[in-house]
Parts: sequence; C-alpha cells; structure tokens
Amino acid sequence: MIVLVTGAAGGVGRLLVPELRGEHELVLTDRAHAPGVVPGDLADPDFLRGVVAGADAIVHLAGDPNPSRGWDRLRVPNADMVAHVLDAAVAAGVGRVVLASSVHASAGYVDAGRTPVREDWPAWPCCPYGAAKVFAESLGRAYAYQWGLSVVCLRLGGVRERPAARSWLPGWLSPGDLGRLVRAALRANVDYGVYHGISANTGALWDRSLAGAELSYRPVDDSARYAGEVADDLAAKPDPAARPRWGFAHLS
Ligand SMILES: NC(=O)c1ccc[n+]([C@@H]2O[C@H](COP(=O)([O-])OP(=O)(O)OC[C@H]3O[C@@H](n4cnc5c(N)ncnc54)[C@H](O)[C@@H]3O)[C@@H](O)[C@H]2O)c1
Repeated sequence: MIVLVTGAAGGVGRLLVPELRGEHELVLTDRAHAPGVVPGDLADPDFLRGVVAGADAIVHLAGDPNPSRGWDRLRVPNADMVAHVLDAAVAAGVGRVVLASSVHASAGYVDAGRTPVREDWPAWPCCPYGAAKVFAESLGRAYAYQWGLSVVCLRLGGVRERPAARSWLPGWLSPGDLGRLVRAALRANVDYGVYHGISANTGALWDRSLAGAELSYRPVDDSARYAGEVADDLAAKPDPAARPRWGFAHLS
C-alpha cells in the first residue's frame, strides 16, 4: 500500500515511520521541514489534495497533542483539519484513514476510578482535547457510514521511547507496539472502529480487548520494566483528590 503519514515530523511520527518502513510505501508530510518529508500545510486545500492523491491509506497524526489547551486552540488543528483530511480522502478514493485519537477521549472514567476503561463504553472526555478527539472519531464514523470510507480510530496512550514518569506507566505505548498497532489498523478488515492503543502494561487503566479481537493487535512491551527507574511524579501528591486530573497532568 501507499500510505500517507501526516504529522510525520512530530513526536509520534518520528517513532512510527521506521516501524512502517519495509511494509508499506510511505509518503511523509508535515508543515515542519525534515528529511524525507514533503513540507506543507494541510490547511492549504491545494497542498492537501496534491499530497493525498495516489494514497491507498492515510495515517493522520498532524494536530495539536497538548491536552491542557482550550477549545479555541484545538478547533482548527484537531477538528477542522480532520474534516479536511476526511474530505480529501473521499475525493481521492482513499480506502482507509487511521486517525490518531487519544486515551483522553475516555479518561473521565479514570478520574472516576472506573478502570480498566473498555473501548465499547460511551466516550467520557476529560477535557476539551479529549472532546475534540471524540468529535474526530464521530466524524470518522459519519464518513464511514455516508461515504464507505474505512476509518480506524486509535486512542493512543503516551507514546515515548520509555515512560516519562510513574504516572505514565498504566498508559504507555512503546514505539514497537505503536508500530504493531498501526500496521494492524492498516491491514484489518473493519469499516469503522475505536480502539485503545497502549502497551501490555501491568496495571493498565485501559482495556484493549476490541483492539485484540478486531485488529489482532498483540502488544509485547510492559511499562513495569521501567517502574524502578522512572521519576515518581505521584509521590509529591499522596492524596489522589489533590492530584491534577488527566487532562492537565498527563501525557502532554
Ligand atoms: N504524543 C503522544 O503521546 C500522543 C498521545 C495520544 C494521542 N496523540 C495524538 O497523536 C498525534 C501526533 O502527536 P505528536 O505528539 O506527534 O504531536 P507533535 O506536535 O509532536 O506532532 C504533530 C505534527 O503535526 C504537524 N502539523 C500540525 N498542524 C499541521 C498542519 N496544519 N499541516 C501540516 N502539519 C501540521 C506539526 O508540525 C507536528 O510536526 C496528535 O493528533 C496527538 O493528539 C499523541
């Protein structure tokens, strides 16, 4: 497949691209300049049309990953831009779009102590960032229904080489598992779905049964391996009620 990766020069993109090489022919794009990346702004309709042309699938990563932002900063990159990419995908006859959603779309359950959060529970965003991701998932479903575009939404956990601190352990997604997840999402026989994307972490707060059953996602990494070496960012706030909520504290 020819796979267009948007936001390829970003944090997730830089870890994902090596994992996809060899399996697919990649077209990388970002408004930031980087080697091998077609530079341009997806807000430019001509650029978007040009870069989407010829792709069999799109992995859409471009957006604002900061969960502490307000809606005014998120609407364009995380809502409008998803609509533009879906429109361009339909117009160009792209078969599948993989959307980078986030565990913030369901992190309200975590704050309420209802874990592990299942993928088939109604969304419970913890913040405008999470709500924007739910909007993107919902728009993806509408395009799947209306236009027959296959849309796979991946609620990614914290993507880093290794967990950044103790609070990351339950929701970490390793680079290797990120690759397994996105490769599975590109190949699965599904019209539409929303899946949690985290590693095989001990004490995971998000269930990933649907990702296993429908995408055949089989993570192998466990954040527990790093438990003894990461900074304990929770120790300073022993009272859970005093800790910042997910939307403002985690995975940014
Ligand atoms: N980083 C994580 O742990 C994490 C967790 C969950 C979900 N996500 C989601 O994954 C995606 C990627 O996150 P990230 O951490 O790599 O973010 P990032 O900010 O590091 O990378 C995003 C990239 O998108 C590009 N971009 C933004 N607007 C653009 C536009 N209009 N045209 C072209 N390029 C544009 C930026 O230049 C940047 O390189 C985001 O949608 C984010 O919400 C990330």
